Amino acid sequence: MGSWSGMRRPNLISWLTVAWFCSVVRTAVGGAVELRTVPQVLRSRCGDNVTLTCEATVPPQMDIKQFSWVFKNKTCHYNNPSPKPWCESAEEPPRRSLALTLVSVMPVDQGEYMCKLRSNMGVAHNRSVVTVQECFGSVAPSINETHASCCFSGVYPTGVVHWVREGVNLTDSSLWQDQQDLDGRYNICSVVGVKKETTDKPFQCSLWIPSRQMYLASKNVSAGGGQEPSRRGATLQGVLVALEMVVLKLVT
Ligand SMILES: *[C@@H]1O[C@H](CO)[C@@H](O)[C@H](O)[C@H]1NC(C)=O
Ligand SMILES: *[C@@H]1O[C@H](CO)[C@@H](O)[C@H](O)[C@H]1NC(C)=O
Ligand SMILES: *[C@@H]1O[C@H](CO)[C@@H](O)[C@H](O)[C@H]1NC(C)=O
Ligand SMILES: *[C@@H]1O[C@H](CO)[C@@H](O)[C@H](O)[C@H]1NC(C)=O
Ligand SMILES: *[C@@H]1O[C@H](CO)[C@@H](O)[C@H](O)[C@H]1NC(C)=O
Ligand SMILES: *[C@@H]1O[C@H](CO)[C@@H](O)[C@H](O)[C@H]1NC(C)=O
Repeated sequence: MGSWSGMRRPNLISWLTVAWFCSVVRTAVGGAVELRTVPQVLRSRCGDNVTLTCEATVPPQMDIKQFSWVFKNKTCHYNNPSPKPWCESAEEPPRRSLALTLVSVMPVDQGEYMCKLRSNMGVAHNRSVVTVQECFGSVAPSINETHASCCFSGVYPTGVVHWVREGVNLTDSSLWQDQQDLDGRYNICSVVGVKKETTDKPFQCSLWIPSRQMYLASKNVSAGGGQEPSRRGATLQGVLVALEMVVLKLVT
């Protein structure tokens, strides 16, 4: 009699195990190895640190072959033998998660980040999309007897420089150059000619971002009173040559 109860318990347990195992296999084969990516869409400020998390719920009999974040040719692997601070694995059964931290997000980091999981019970993927808001680094103004210039650096999206002095729009007579950094931001320099008798009147240079329909920065450029009129003889041709030299410098 004692052997009955001894037989029944394992029977019941193995039945439950089989039933549970079948349901797990069924859902897994049905594509239910779900990955949750948080957030799904991330609109980051330029230069912020942000973290993308991918979470998998893993049944005990599941054998993970590969679990990773992939962006362009960059990857972050689960349980990487040489862990990086920006690629962290965490285990809290039955959940496994992989957190990818982007340090100082730049325009070049924009795009679709894929989280992929490959296991003995099937594959799954999900994604997060990262976008970056406007970036602005700094503005360096300068002025002398022949020209005024403003160089805006660390700008995104790209823009154009508008010049105004005493209510007069000088933009159409300006020359400008832009150049993109490896991180996707732009450096934009613009130059306008200065007539010798007006060096004391401030110029205003403003950075206009056409794609956002907004001004990102503005600066008043003036000689600060101490301007020495040492080159009063500067001709229009001289001004043009100086401008050309500046622009050539900016190009290289
Ligand atoms: C991706 O993750 C989100 C949670 O952040 C979830 O709502 C969505 O269903 C997942 N998509 C797929 C295809 O697993
Ligand atoms: C981003 O992370 C880096 C490295 O951990 C840290 O030095 C920096 O201060 C952080 N920046 C911000 C804006 O939190
Ligand atoms: C990743 O791609 C960038 C440009 O697309 C390239 O410069 C870099 O060498 C690549 N890195 C690796 C490890 O392939
Ligand atoms: C004015 O300044 C620019 C650089 O800021 C320089 O290239 C140019 O030679 C200067 N012109 C004169 C007349 O000093
Ligand atoms: C100045 O002129 C530029 C180009 O013609 C124009 O895009 C800009 O809106 C004008 N700015 C002002 C303040 O009128
Ligand atoms: C530049 O000066 C004008 C007045 O001439 C002022 O209205 C404006 O706020 C100043 N802009 C900056 C960026 O300092």
